[in-house]
Amino acid sequence: MKEEKIDLLKQRFLKEIEEADTPKKKREISKKYLEKELSLVFQSLKTLSSKRKSKVGKKANELKQLILENTEKEEVKENKQWTDVTLPGDKIKAGNLHPLTEIQKKCVDIFAGMGFAVAEGPELENEWYNFDALNFKEDHPAREMQDTLFIKQKNRESLSSEEKLLMRTHTSPVQIRYMLENKPPLRIIVPGRVFRNEATDSSHEINFYQIEGLMIGEDISVANFKAVMETFFRRFFKKDDIGIRLRPSFFPFTEPSFEVDMTCSSCNGKGCSLCKKTGWIEIVGAGMVHPNVLKSGGIDSNKFKGFAFGMGLDRIAMIRYKIDDIRLFYSGDVRFLSQF
Ligand code: PHE
Repeated sequence: MKEEKIDLLKQRFLKEIEEADTPKKKREISKKYLEKELSLVFQSLKTLSSKRKSKVGKKANELKQLILENTEKEEVKENKQWTDVTLPGDKIKAGNLHPLTEIQKKCVDIFAGMGFAVAEGPELENEWYNFDALNFKEDHPAREMQDTLFIKQKNRESLSSEEKLLMRTHTSPVQIRYMLENKPPLRIIVPGRVFRNEATDSSHEINFYQIEGLMIGEDISVANFKAVMETFFRRFFKKDDIGIRLRPSFFPFTEPSFEVDMTCSSCNGKGCSLCKKTGWIEIVGAGMVHPNVLKSGGIDSNKFKGFAFGMGLDRIAMIRYKIDDIRLFYSGDVRFLSQF
């Protein structure tokens, strides 16, 4: 078997292919060469010395390749449906979750990791849950603190506070709803939408989201609260050196009450525009649950105590994503929303 014979075979093949006028004929020619002529060549390789074998074998393989490529070309021509699987596919436009939903999920995950269950309550609430049960006294100025959106009702004045409807101004009424239905020890968070009758600006919206927290047990103290909050912020902002500080404050439903500040996550406490050069960001309202609130929830305040907190979801989302206008969350502007 000589190399020239292979060259000859190649020339004959190319000629025959050129003369064939239908794809079918071309395919038959390829088949003939592959299965007969070439297989004879490969068989005869056995008789050659190893040096010759590699030389002639290489040539034979080149011819095999040529025939295969030719066959393939014909198949492509014939089959118009041919798909090139190596081309990049059409991009499917995937939607994404709203940034606030994303943040809420993250918060829920972190609190769930600390054993908190998720509870929910209605956005259309009554005055008893939203105010009375939370120790807001009748005519207490604190009722005015929260600009309430009341629901128009006939003869509203003559209705009881359980009948007077409003859009909940905070998620705290769910504390009462949950206490009335569950026995302590309790450990819940309540994510949800709240409503305030306020003029809107870059940090105020007529509705926004809160996450309420409530932990009740036989010996729950401020120390437990501090630990839970600190753990939450460290995990949420993925920074181990975030600290918190408590400042005295007032809420009718907690005693003592505090505002919680956390180390500014943007400048690590050095002072920047986000924290107004103080190094701290005010982020949560909280306190030890007032005995009157436990009473409203049907819990023995001599035996049980606990802490509650409420934080603005929009606010921590704004800090985390460095967003400077709360109204963007509610704008429905896809250019903004699709960035998350
Ligand atoms: N409900 C309060 C608010 O909306 C926050 C809060 C919740 C404070 C729980 C103390 C305890 O401002």
